[in-house]
Amino acid sequence: MEDEQRRVALVGTGHRGAGTWGRELLANCRQWVELVGLADTNSLRLERARTAIGTNAPTFTDAAEMLETTRPDTLIVTTRDDTHCDLIVAALEAGVDVLTEKPMATTAEMCRRILDAERRTGRRVDVGFNYRFSPTAKMIKETLLSGVVGEVTSVDFHWYLDTQHGADYFRRWHAFQACSGSLFVHKATHHFDLLNWYLAADPREIFARGSLCHYGANGPFRGVRCKNCRYADICPFFMDIGADPWLDMLYEEPSREDGYFRDACVFREEIDIFDTMSAAILFENGVQVSYSLNACMPIEGYHLAFNGTKGRVEIRQHERQPWETPEEDEILVMRNFEGVERVRVPHAEGGHFGADVEMQKMLFGPPTPDPLGQRAGARAGALSVLTGVAATESARSGRPVAIMPLLEEGDGSQNR
Ligand SMILES: NC(=O)c1ccc[n+]([C@@H]2O[C@H](COP(=O)([O-])OP(=O)(O)OC[C@H]3O[C@@H](n4cnc5c(N)ncnc54)[C@H](O)[C@@H]3O)[C@@H](O)[C@H]2O)c1
Repeated sequence: MEDEQRRVALVGTGHRGAGTWGRELLANCRQWVELVGLADTNSLRLERARTAIGTNAPTFTDAAEMLETTRPDTLIVTTRDDTHCDLIVAALEAGVDVLTEKPMATTAEMCRRILDAERRTGRRVDVGFNYRFSPTAKMIKETLLSGVVGEVTSVDFHWYLDTQHGADYFRRWHAFQACSGSLFVHKATHHFDLLNWYLAADPREIFARGSLCHYGANGPFRGVRCKNCRYADICPFFMDIGADPWLDMLYEEPSREDGYFRDACVFREEIDIFDTMSAAILFENGVQVSYSLNACMPIEGYHLAFNGTKGRVEIRQHERQPWETPEEDEILVMRNFEGVERVRVPHAEGGHFGADVEMQKMLFGPPTPDPLGQRAGARAGALSVLTGVAATESARSGRPVAIMPLLEEGDGSQNR
């Protein structure tokens, strides 16, 4: 039925919840979505988000009470990463389907709990891997499926976060392993999922390195937060929260309730995640991947190449850079002993180059074919998290870590 509405509740009314999964979801999918409840532990942020979303849906500071009272068909989970698992499992056990933001969870044990709850309850978990929906990602997937480069043998994948976006992860809860699982989980979950999806294969083993070279204790000085900081004039990472009306509205006053500052100091000594990471990943089908993630760069974007038995597909995407940003991506398709074909993909409007709205329509619109398998479930969510968990463990122990055993009970250490 074209316009059947799904009863949707949302937990976590921060930037992503109020924006992409609140305001924008209603703008893009209003005919298919009835927002029946909003929950957040911070009552001030919750009320502000309700106004910003433009809904009369009831609000709750307890997500369990919201499930009980509103009986939604689907719960959207957009809270802090380490809280996803309990909320997902509670919803499944209440007979509710779940759409969770990435990363699905932050530990192997949480991934196993979610997969087990999904099996037990027969409900469905979707994971919001929006990067699969970008026009460029779609074109890369189609190019690989066409067989033009033969069998893929190795991949070069290097992701760059600039001094604005990269630093943002060090201002908030993401800067702590216990909350985000580290950037190998929080951020790289996107990249590891793209690899699994592009290669249509499971990852077998990872050997990783990580260090903290820029933020945390590396800073020449430090404060608590940017607002009223005595180093504001000389700190290159100074952020004026008052200059951003959206962030100011959602976070400044509400911080009085829970002390969650949106502009905490990036040089806090207690920061315990890496900002500089690299990894060698071996896939079950023998593909070797060389991966890196750097979080303090003058450019924002990625370099990606698939090397195959017949040629190579290559893309360098820059979202922000100290020179003119192109309005399109260019994918180079090269065949050994032949020339190059240049495939141009225009940047689409909307979040993540149009990926967010495409994903929302597939998840909430009328049933639609999914020939490229862009819709991602709990197993995909788990595999990318487990790759990040294994990477973090490898970087800390100096040893390669097997990934698939982490899906089973125990920590898989016997398989290393
Ligand atoms: N796919 C993407 O491109 C993308 C982009 C941004 C964020 N995200 C994801 O979205 C999620 C939210 O990110 P954000 O930037 O909005 O974070 P945020 O910290 O701004 O918002 C999280 C909200 O959840 C609330 N919260 C925390 N624990 C809770 C609990 N147990 N119950 C109810 N509310 C709780 C907080 O008070 C806060 O309002 C994260 O998992 C993040 O990884 C994904």
